[in-house]
Amino acid sequence: MPKRVIILGSTGSIGCSALSVADNLPDEFEIVGLAAESRWQRIAEQVERYHPKAVVLSDPISAENLTERLCEVGSDTVVWSGADALVRLVEEVECDFVLAGIVGVAGLPATLAAVRRGLTVGLANKESLVVAGELMVRAAANSKARLLPVDSEHSAIYQSLLSGRHEEIERLYLTASGGPFRTWTAEQMRSAAPADAMRHPTWSMGPKISIDSATMMNKALEIIEAKWLFGVDPDRIEVVVHPESIIHSMVAFRDGSIVAQMGRPDMRTPIQYAMTHPQRLTGCGERLEFTQLQRMHFEPPDPARFPSLRLGHEVARLGGTAGAALNAANEAAVDAFRNERIGFLEIVPMVEDVVKSHLSADQPSGFEAHPDLTTLMAVDAWARRAIAQCCTV
Ligand SMILES: NC(=O)c1ccc[n+]([C@@H]2O[C@H](COP(=O)([O-])OP(=O)(O)OC[C@H]3O[C@@H](n4cnc5c(N)ncnc54)[C@H](OP(=O)(O)O)[C@@H]3O)[C@@H](O)[C@H]2O)c1
Repeated sequence: MPKRVIILGSTGSIGCSALSVADNLPDEFEIVGLAAESRWQRIAEQVERYHPKAVVLSDPISAENLTERLCEVGSDTVVWSGADALVRLVEEVECDFVLAGIVGVAGLPATLAAVRRGLTVGLANKESLVVAGELMVRAAANSKARLLPVDSEHSAIYQSLLSGRHEEIERLYLTASGGPFRTWTAEQMRSAAPADAMRHPTWSMGPKISIDSATMMNKALEIIEAKWLFGVDPDRIEVVVHPESIIHSMVAFRDGSIVAQMGRPDMRTPIQYAMTHPQRLTGCGERLEFTQLQRMHFEPPDPARFPSLRLGHEVARLGGTAGAALNAANEAAVDAFRNERIGFLEIVPMVEDVVKSHLSADQPSGFEAHPDLTTLMAVDAWARRAIAQCCTV
C-alpha cells in the first residue's frame, strides 16, 4: 500500500521538493491532500497531476479561482478555504504522513492538529516548535505521533543519535553555512538589500528562511527546535559555521566519538528520509564525491555581527511564551525588511527589544512559563503590533 501523504505548503520550496521525492518513488506515495495560501495556478497544476482528495487555499479569492479552474477540467478534488480549513484537512482526510511545509506560525494549528491526531509528521515548519514546543511535545507523547525532522540539521542529528543513547550525548553541533553575509563587514551589511540577503550560497529556499539565514536567526530558531525535538539542554547545543554545507550536523557522545551525517546540500534527501522512514530508498539527488571535495572548513560564528545566536540560546533557556514573542517579532521584522521599511541590521535588535519588553511586561502581554495555544497566539499578535509600532516611529 502506498503511504497516503498530505503536503502543507505544497507550492513552496519544501513542498515542491517533497513532490519531486514522490515523483521519484511513484509506487511509494499517494498524495491525498495539498495546501497553500494563494498561489492557485501552481496548486491547480499539482491537483491535475496528483488528484488529491482535498486541497486548501487559505486565501478565499484564490480558492474561488482554483474551484473555477478545477470545474473547467472536471476534477473531483474538493477545495476548502477559510480559518479552519488547514486543520480540517489533516483531521478529515485519511492519511499516514503529513509534511508540515508551511512557512511561519501560520503552519502551527494544522501541524499541532496532525500531532494530536497521532499521525507521523515530517516537520519542516520549525516555527511550530519555536512557538509551541512544549504543547507539541506533550501532544506527541499523548497521541503517540511521530515527529520526524525535515530541517537538514535536525535530520542529521536524528540520524546521528541512532548510534547512541540519550544519556550518552555530550553535545549537539548544529552546522551553519554562515549565510550570504559570512564574509561581509558590518558596514557592508548595513546597506544590504533584500535581494542580497536572499542570495544564499549553498541552499535554494523560500524568501523568509533565506533572510533568516542571512541574520543567522534561522540558526537561533534551530537551537530552540533542537531543544524540543531532542530534549537537550540549550547550553549543550553549539553552532559551528561550515560554509560548504556538507556535514549537516553532528552529535558528540561522552566517549569522545562524534557522529556526523553528510551529503550534498539538497533538501530532497532529508525530506525523503522522513517520508520513507524507517526505510532508506534510492534517492534522486547528486551523490557526494569525496575525491572532488577539496576541503571542509569550520569556524565559530561571529557574535558581534550575528547577535541572533545569543538571543536564540536565551529564548531556548526561557521556554514558555518567549519563543512566540521571538518568532512573531522576527516574522514581522523580516516582512518590514523585505518591504524596505527597515534596514538589514535593524532586524535583530528590533526583535531583541520586543523579546525584552515581553519579558518585563505584565499580563496579558508578559511572559508565561506554561502557556496554552490561546496565550501563545495573543503573544504572537502583541509582538507583531510591537514591531509595527517600531517601524512607524
Ligand atoms: N526551503 C528550505 O530549504 C527549508 C529548509 C529547512 C526548513 N525549512 C522550513 O520549511 C518551511 C517552509 O519553507 P519554504 O522555504 O518552503 O517556504 P516558501 O518557499 O516560502 O513556501 C511557503 C509555503 O507555505 C505556504 N503558506 C504560507 N502562508 C500560508 C498560510 N497562511 N496558509 C497556507 N499556506 C501558507 C505558501 O503558500 P503560497 O505559495 O500560496 O504562498 C507556500 O506553499 C519554513 O518553516 C522553513 O523554515 C525550509
